[in-house]
Amino acid sequence: MANETKNDTAFMEKLVSLCKRRGFIYQSSEIYGGIGGFWDYGPLGAELKRNLRDAWWRTMTREREDVVGLDATIIMHPAIWKASGHVDTFADLMRECTLTNKRVRADHVEPQVGTVMRFSGAEAPTGWRSERSVTVLMKKTEHIESFRKRVRQLIAQNAGAAAGKPEEIVLLGEEKIDVVEGSVDFHPETGGLLNEARPFNLMLKTYVGPTATENDVAYLRPETAQAIFAQFKNVLDSSRVKVPFGICQIGKAFRNEVTPKNFTFRSREFEQMELEFFIKPDEAIEIISGTVTAWSEGADLSAPQPNWGWEMWHRYWVDQRTRFYKSIGLGMDVLAYHWQTPDELAHYARACVDILFKFPFGTDELEGIAARGEFDLSQHQKHSGKPQEFFDDELKAAAAKLTEEQKEAFIQKRLAVEKAKTKGEPMPEAEVRAWFDRLFKGFYVPHVIEPSAGLDRLALAILCSAFSETEKTDEKGKKEVLTVMRFHPRIAPIRVGVFPLLKNKPELVAKAREVYNLLKPHMNCFYDETASIGRRYARQDEAGTPYGVTIDFDTLGEKGDELKDTVTVRERDSNQQERIAIKDLLGYLQQRIN
Ligand code: GAP
Repeated sequence: MANETKNDTAFMEKLVSLCKRRGFIYQSSEIYGGIGGFWDYGPLGAELKRNLRDAWWRTMTREREDVVGLDATIIMHPAIWKASGHVDTFADLMRECTLTNKRVRADHVEPQVGTVMRFSGAEAPTGWRSERSVTVLMKKTEHIESFRKRVRQLIAQNAGAAAGKPEEIVLLGEEKIDVVEGSVDFHPETGGLLNEARPFNLMLKTYVGPTATENDVAYLRPETAQAIFAQFKNVLDSSRVKVPFGICQIGKAFRNEVTPKNFTFRSREFEQMELEFFIKPDEAIEIISGTVTAWSEGADLSAPQPNWGWEMWHRYWVDQRTRFYKSIGLGMDVLAYHWQTPDELAHYARACVDILFKFPFGTDELEGIAARGEFDLSQHQKHSGKPQEFFDDELKAAAAKLTEEQKEAFIQKRLAVEKAKTKGEPMPEAEVRAWFDRLFKGFYVPHVIEPSAGLDRLALAILCSAFSETEKTDEKGKKEVLTVMRFHPRIAPIRVGVFPLLKNKPELVAKAREVYNLLKPHMNCFYDETASIGRRYARQDEAGTPYGVTIDFDTLGEKGDELKDTVTVRERDSNQQERIAIKDLLGYLQQRIN
């Protein structure tokens, strides 16, 4: 199925249903009615996620000499979140339905058309009575009777058992107030009037220790990044790293999202894969190298150079991350970029690009890559009182060769930049001079480029892009629609299915088991001997298994020595079959899945 058809709710319904049926993703706590914004990964989903996590980790650290890993705790000292700004500013504007108290993110309310109706109260034969007036939007297409029925149900839900049966509730003082077009003042689901927007902090609170007082408040981390900043000095002092270098981490993050939605896209518990790549400030590069390479269209980003400033590093990481997505099957046909405008950028950020995926419900963020200057480490330096500087001997040696005039020229250039700032406070001259004083001695707080991706969002993007349907006609002429998950072999949950042609032939089963045992230590395999071979292929197509290995009578040597100890390897997407010797099978598959 071409990707342009993957853009509707029907597609998402099919995908969600497949995810449950085949064990990719289930609703968390489903037997108790579920819990909004939390999802569990079943056997196939757990494998898919693990493969994505491993691919990211391998690419971001194991295959690089300049990035090391970290595995930090979810709960950290609450001062970290004060320093990072999360306690004061990590909030969404939220509005509440005045009828049901249901919350919605202010920017998630789509404009609506309809008639605004008000009721002065309601009563029920049970004796329950409410004199609270309620204002509800009757949608343009809604019939007045079904509207009243809906309002009764909402009132009943809110009032609980005291109000009795919804159909017996009497609505009082019905009034038509207004006709609106393009209004964002009514709850998208209930139609109830929304109250004024209020900031709602997204961090999930908990208590550490047995007393559970306000002094014991701690937070479940809303991002993995802050642990990297908080441990920057320890990593620097305990590893043989030198700026430029990066620290990466994969782990759970928690956000009390006002409106979790679009399956796993916006969840309350999710996993992030983040890299903080520490670089020298551009002034240090200029002192050491004489110039800072400016980015221009078509610049060579293949290998980092000593005279790269933040802009080249930022472009480099956008390029690296795009290559990563391509390596697991997401090309530019399904991706897009959004370069944040100066208005959208945080005051400390120099640039931020979002890598977007064309989800069926809209093109939306998969990963953000931000050039964050020295903001994060400087905040921790200020709040903890512990220096977060790096001593750069190369810089010290280069700065020692500068004349006083050259040094002053650097200071004046920076003062001009500060003066021209349109966002945030310009750095006062005394601070600029103090900053250069440290710089000329070889010390600086490193700047950072942050590629920050969501593992669950990536898994969802991979599921969306892999999903396809084909129509097949069986031997009896009956048509059926089959689902094929076209995962890239590198990340497919099961890499190979192993099938004896028949299950009632012990020699075939024994040989198939032998092949399965040969492959199993090296890749995730699935052994299946039930149903026809076509059915078994179809089952594995639905699981997204790229290769199927069939052991038949030729394998046992029934057609002579030439085919003895060979198997049929079927490739999922082309449906092509190849005869491969068992002794070459592992190498053949490894070459294709790694
Ligand atoms: N440290 C920077 C940071 O956390 P972010 O844009 O808030 O930046 C980075 O998050 C990535 O984490 C997003 O691009 C997305 O993939 C993922 N993410 C963020 N909130 C999420 C949520 N509620 N559910 C699933 N993934 C989420």
